[in-house]
Amino acid sequence: MGARIVGTGSAVPSTCLTNDDLSRRVNTSHDWIITRTGIHERRVMKQGEDLLDLMHEASVQALKAAELKATDLQAIVVATVSGEYYFPSTACLLQARLGVDNIPAFDVSAACAGFVYGLSVIHSYAKSGDYGRMLLVGADALSSMVNWEDRATCVLFGDGAGAIVLDTQPGDRGLLSTVIESSGALWELLYVRSGHRLTFDQEGKMPEGWGIKMKGPELFKVAVRALSDVACKALDRAGLTPAEVHLMIPHQANLRIIQAVADRLGLGMEKVHCNVQRFGNTSAASIPIALDEAVREGKIHENDIIVLNACGGGLTWGASVVRW
Ligand code: ACO
Repeated sequence: MGARIVGTGSAVPSTCLTNDDLSRRVNTSHDWIITRTGIHERRVMKQGEDLLDLMHEASVQALKAAELKATDLQAIVVATVSGEYYFPSTACLLQARLGVDNIPAFDVSAACAGFVYGLSVIHSYAKSGDYGRMLLVGADALSSMVNWEDRATCVLFGDGAGAIVLDTQPGDRGLLSTVIESSGALWELLYVRSGHRLTFDQEGKMPEGWGIKMKGPELFKVAVRALSDVACKALDRAGLTPAEVHLMIPHQANLRIIQAVADRLGLGMEKVHCNVQRFGNTSAASIPIALDEAVREGKIHENDIIVLNACGGGLTWGASVVRW
């Protein structure tokens, strides 16, 4: 049996924040941001908006594409670090919104690599036969954790949600391999303490020491190495080589990171799906949003080999190989 992705969906907030908007707030410029990151704009949630609404919209789209009802699901997993509550989990709140009962629903926390960690969980369930039809959502609103006075980080992040529905079906199409790894020793390269949240449109000062902390240049190097090495490991585990990849959909952190990873794998940029230009880094949502976009643009064909690879706070990283 193959663990196939049978539906995708995505949703982003309507508020668009351009580089020019940011340059009116901090000492930066459109040119600096596009040269160093490739990002032109990002979507951010306004005060009072709820990430759960985006997660629900993405899930409904994915279920529709899969031609399934929410009540067909056997498990719900949400990859996020932006939950409104310490408990219940975001997945339980989504479960209630979808009107499903008596199935497991829980969150996975691995920051920007959360979606691939979630894939690893549902892939294992599918292989074990414990659960067949599952919803995996990647959703984050890191804009609410950004220090909007810190130019080094506030230009990078955006908000959104993406979803997939997995189903076990006869045949060899579907998830072929998933590899996840982490290095807790590197946690200080990227972190945010739990605490208050402040959206872009809110007035007020950040509490001292609060917001996303990042050692950008060090992280850049680790990310390039981790994203390319883990993609190779996942391909190797699937008995494939980079030359056999039709499309890589990497975590959308920075266009230069993506280009460097493509380069290390020997992939031309025509074999890489990028939307970091329009959405920035949406953390756990970035791969499922990009995947949904690639599917809807008709970029993915039956039996194509797709690589999904991500790296994030923890540090965490992982890759999945899919025969579509
Ligand atoms: N506008 C203008 N100048 C800036 C800005 C800004 N927004 N941010 C930093 N600078 C300045 C710095 O202060 C520094 O000035 P100085 O030379 O006078 O000290 C100069 O630009 C160079 O700063 P660096 O940090 O060395 O710039 P770099 O080329 O490394 O780019 C960046 C910074 C974009 C953050 C890069 O390091 C990066 O992308 N790192 C990875 C970060 C990342 O992706 N994090 C997301 C989560 S992890 C993941 O998803 C993989």
